[in-house]
Amino acid sequence: YRSLRVALLGGGSVGAQVARSLLEDRDELAHRVGASLDLIGIAVRDVDAKRSVDLPRELLTTDAERLILGADVVIELMGGIEPARTYILQALNSGADVVTGNKALLATHGPELFAAAEQVGAQLYYEAAVGGAIPIIRPLRESLAGDRVKRILGIVNGTTNYILDRMDTQGDSLEDALATAQELGLAEANPSADVDGYDAAQKAAILASLAFHTEVSVDDVHREGITAVTAAQIASAAHSGHVVKLLAICERLIDPDSGVEGVSVRVYPAMVPRSHPLAAVHGANNAVFVEAEAAGALMFYGAGAGGVETSSAVLGDLVSLARRHVVGGPGLTESKHAGLPVLEIGKATTRY
Ligand code: HSE
Repeated sequence: YRSLRVALLGGGSVGAQVARSLLEDRDELAHRVGASLDLIGIAVRDVDAKRSVDLPRELLTTDAERLILGADVVIELMGGIEPARTYILQALNSGADVVTGNKALLATHGPELFAAAEQVGAQLYYEAAVGGAIPIIRPLRESLAGDRVKRILGIVNGTTNYILDRMDTQGDSLEDALATAQELGLAEANPSADVDGYDAAQKAAILASLAFHTEVSVDDVHREGITAVTAAQIASAAHSGHVVKLLAICERLIDPDSGVEGVSVRVYPAMVPRSHPLAAVHGANNAVFVEAEAAGALMFYGAGAGGVETSSAVLGDLVSLARRHVVGGPGLTESKHAGLPVLEIGKATTRY
């Protein structure tokens, strides 16, 4: 491959930022991959809609299916179940690799999509589906694949963390804090997805599936949101040295009688001791605290939402996939041959 044709489905806050980076950082990305990443089109619902980032008009199309047919890699950032599911299946069946951030789809139809990918030998990457910018999918799928994860405690919804944090630190009401979160563009289009815990439950299902090498669907997740959390509860938690956080808890359990192993996945507002690292996760940030048998406790922390931040995870997936297409891989030697100057270490100014 000298070039890879990339089709983008969705021109929302993440999609538009991915498109901008692909266009602006073209040369840099080509050096890293060893082939150019050519954005061949962006499928949107409405070509004339107002966007967070201006996109070249000639790349916009409403014909997603045609775009998919001409692509080596399809990036799906439309969200929702349909038509995203059909498009991803079409892409995989045509032999294209797919990058998606679609947590709702993965948490309901994950096994179907992974089976489709496996059948044709295509790849399906989804780092952006959980925790926005935070690398957590790849660590669970690859770095910890030889360990035994015992438990995951996650703050995986930025909007509810923002709300609970405002209630704790500013004494805001839930309604006021939600309104501010919406102004900041953190909340889902339907705030119920955040405050009723659906978004966190989808992410919990994805994390549990990876961590425990099994299939956990969002329907398997016990879910409670934050709408019943009162100012009095927050104050009482504070009084006893705790802070209330909406936690996604994924646990490996063994039935003491039968010895049968199982998995418990639940989302609910929990009291976290102020001394726990998760208590220090403020604002719209996310964190995933992983307890593994050999590795011990690990925490992955950072921005859990936002177009620019989440685009980092999408582009990382794209570069990883694209590298697999390049025969022999790019490697450092090739980058040097491609004219990339070597980073100078120990100098006052660093030249790239
Ligand atoms: N509404 C989600 C959140 C966006 O607040 O975390 C990222 O999935």
